[in-house]
Amino acid sequence: MTKYLEYDNCQKLAKLKRIFNNGWRKPSVVMSSYLDRIGAGYVIDNPDPLDFDYVPKELVCREKYQNYLAARFSSIDKVDSSCRAIITGPVGSGKTVLVKTFCRDLQRHLVNRRTINIAHVNCRNASTSTRVVQRILHAIDPGHPDRGLSIGELLLSLRKLTRRNSSHLIVILDEVDHMLRKSGDDILYQLLRIDEDQEGKGTLSLILISQEQVLDVLETAVISRIGKTNLIKIPAYNEDELFNIAMQRADLALVKGSYSEQIIRLIAEKSAPIGDARLAIELLKAAAESCEIRQDDHTERAISIDDVHAKDEILSVDMVSEIDAIDGLKPHAMLVLLAICRRLKKESSMTTGDVESLYAVVCEEYEQQMKSHTTLWKYLKELENRQLIKTRISTVSDGRGRTTHLSMPHFLPSDIASRLEMLVKKRL
Ligand SMILES: Nc1ncnc2c1ncn2[C@@H]1O[C@H](COP(=O)(O)OP(=O)(O)OP(=O)(O)O)[C@@H](O)[C@H]1O
Ligand SMILES: [Mg+2]
Repeated sequence: MTKYLEYDNCQKLAKLKRIFNNGWRKPSVVMSSYLDRIGAGYVIDNPDPLDFDYVPKELVCREKYQNYLAARFSSIDKVDSSCRAIITGPVGSGKTVLVKTFCRDLQRHLVNRRTINIAHVNCRNASTSTRVVQRILHAIDPGHPDRGLSIGELLLSLRKLTRRNSSHLIVILDEVDHMLRKSGDDILYQLLRIDEDQEGKGTLSLILISQEQVLDVLETAVISRIGKTNLIKIPAYNEDELFNIAMQRADLALVKGSYSEQIIRLIAEKSAPIGDARLAIELLKAAAESCEIRQDDHTERAISIDDVHAKDEILSVDMVSEIDAIDGLKPHAMLVLLAICRRLKKESSMTTGDVESLYAVVCEEYEQQMKSHTTLWKYLKELENRQLIKTRISTVSDGRGRTTHLSMPHFLPSDIASRLEMLVKKRL
């Protein structure tokens, strides 16, 4: 071992000598420059808030559902009280984060009044009753032996443990449909029964989480037992909510000035058809990474439209192919779209006034007579119906005028433009 070290030191000494003899060279010349951007932080200041599992301090736009959940737990500060709730909603609607932040905040709120323990079990990874109870036990007693214990013995342990330390346990069964399918709903009743004798009343609360469509199948059995009034259905996010969620993450994770409101709006528009917050965060992360990796001394340190579309294929955001989307468009609708694409290559949105003047330029280029204002509007409607563009109306700050903003969340404008440039010539 010493020999190797000595040899290693000799090598290092020789290398240092060589460097001194040849004169000092900048490390970037000596090292591989392709690694320079790792951790450089040109755009990404703190990567954690771009992670799925990151739990933000504050939830965005979910006050109403936070209140509903709090109402279901309004008596939780009383010693003999236990509560129940079922949360359902579509993918990425914030079910898990709603419950996680609620339990975290509740623990803090009740400090000095009631000790709350939390056991969050994802039933996708623990789909049998035995695994579920093992996970719950681990959450409150990490050293608890579970090998070879029957479900009855595990439940007995759980009962003893919850009573011994006189704290209250909230069990969260996330993606509970996985367990219900595999093992049925017996375990739910066994968990609820833990409290049944007088002495141990109020030891355990239960929160079930499931995607809406899945729970529908099991609705009657489970919901009726837990109580219909305890069911909280949360909807998918709309574009403005996704905008706020993505903006919160950008503020937390990215270098100031590397993202604009328009870029975050584009991300919100791209994720709006599904209403999935995870997709919005994923798009933001992909865009930031794409921007980070292309940085050098000459680039502007700002996320571009191309960065936002960089991972479309992997994230399978676009359902329609470019060819299908522009197939069968009238020649002048193509010219209008071409005008739009040329501007949206550089800007993330434009106004309808911009479209009209740029369309005039394109007509001149192709030596065409411009179509009327009404026809232009008809084409814009058609482009919107084909999801090629998206329009959003905003009120001007003095409240008197309304402007229509146009963007292209589902396609890369430069791709559509080059396709159109080939097609238009043939069609005219
Ligand atoms: N209102 C919100 N404010 C801030 N972040 C949010 C909000 N809603 C969702 N998120 C974030 O979006 C991501 C997806 O949310 P979450 O995992 O809670 O969705 P879900 O409804 O549980 O999805 P699934 O059905 O796939 O389990 C998470 O990273 C979460 O932190
Ligand atoms: Mg979830």
